Amino acid sequence: MAHLFFEHVGSQPADPVFEIGKMWRDDPNPEKINLAVGIYLDAEGKNPVMRAVKEAEKLILEEEKTKTYLPIDGSPLFLQETKKLLFTEPHTQILAAQTVGGTGALRILGQYLKLEMPRPVYVSDPTWQNHHGVFKAAGLEVKTYPYYDRINHKALKKEFFNFLDSVEKGAVILLHGCCHNPTGIDFTEDEWKFILEKFQKRGLFPFFDIAYLGLGDGLKKDRFGVDLFYQSGMEMCVAFSFSKTMDLYRDRVGALFLVNHSHTLEAMQSTIKQIIRQNYSNPPAHGALVVEKILIESHLRNIWIDELEEHRKRSIETRSIFFEAFEPWILHKKEFKEAKGFFSYLGIKKEEVFALRKESIYLLDDSRINILGINPSNLARFKEVFERLPHG
Ligand SMILES: Cc1ncc(COP(=O)(O)O)c(C=O)c1O
Repeated sequence: MAHLFFEHVGSQPADPVFEIGKMWRDDPNPEKINLAVGIYLDAEGKNPVMRAVKEAEKLILEEEKTKTYLPIDGSPLFLQETKKLLFTEPHTQILAAQTVGGTGALRILGQYLKLEMPRPVYVSDPTWQNHHGVFKAAGLEVKTYPYYDRINHKALKKEFFNFLDSVEKGAVILLHGCCHNPTGIDFTEDEWKFILEKFQKRGLFPFFDIAYLGLGDGLKKDRFGVDLFYQSGMEMCVAFSFSKTMDLYRDRVGALFLVNHSHTLEAMQSTIKQIIRQNYSNPPAHGALVVEKILIESHLRNIWIDELEEHRKRSIETRSIFFEAFEPWILHKKEFKEAKGFFSYLGIKKEEVFALRKESIYLLDDSRINILGINPSNLARFKEVFERLPHG
């Protein structure tokens, strides 16, 4: 008889985004609609590989001469070019490392903070759900700050500003650089300046997560908050993802940045490298090679910029078509119309979400939708089903 070692193991709840994605995939209804995923979808409901990526991959296939390891902190060319996307030059005092997607950057930075300046990290309420899990797994205590009232569907910016006045000095505050997930509520340039003043006055530590660069107001404007803080001389950290910005989701390509003015970069880099080495040794190369190829070859870069703009415009147009079709039911009109990026709450109850699911229309339990799940061939059906629901 073999020994049973796993008799007492527990289990964990499934990740909602992936779980609902699976329900959608397994649903045989040809008219099913997926509003739950967190990826770009085109007018045919597909997530295509960008043309710039395909071209870069062809070149890489021809040119690649080795599969040897990348350095622990990744490709230097990739890091140099990614830095240019986010920060005004000169790039002094910025430590950088390539990571396994944006999630990898959050995790490594989380572990770094746990080691070097352990204190709670404050995330917006609500936030991308995985922030809680990743930071807890890194050993940090996770607390929240007010951002959005999920019952009345109102942005809570005033409450957030008041929180900045009252939170303990030196606190780590996670900020979404652009296209806040899940609300789509972002700060204006004036609000970023106001927030910066509060951070400076109160000695708070900004931790930016920027996973949708180029998909809100465009490449230059979307980095406004991150770059403003950098230019002001603040010490800060940034977790960056190419998953959405280049549609490279499964290639897992991201980067972390740490700005500091008190210590040599080499010393801090050595600790970041040790954390990476002990987690996964060194990052995968393919996605980073694609990114650096696109960013250094001007014809590929131009193709990519056009494609990113197409993505951005599709999300703006779809949001406005959706709003027109559903205006009577959307109570948070201002919040919905002004939201940036892919997401918003639809603002319906859980029972209504479940009723939609019975009709093969999938959104997250809290009614977050990816606006890009809507396209010309499914809008009418969604509206017809939605109108039939008992609302209230
Ligand atoms: C706000 C936010 N941060 C980070 C990530 C993680 O990105 P990645 O898939 O590159 O790990 C996501 C992905 O959905 C996100 O929405």
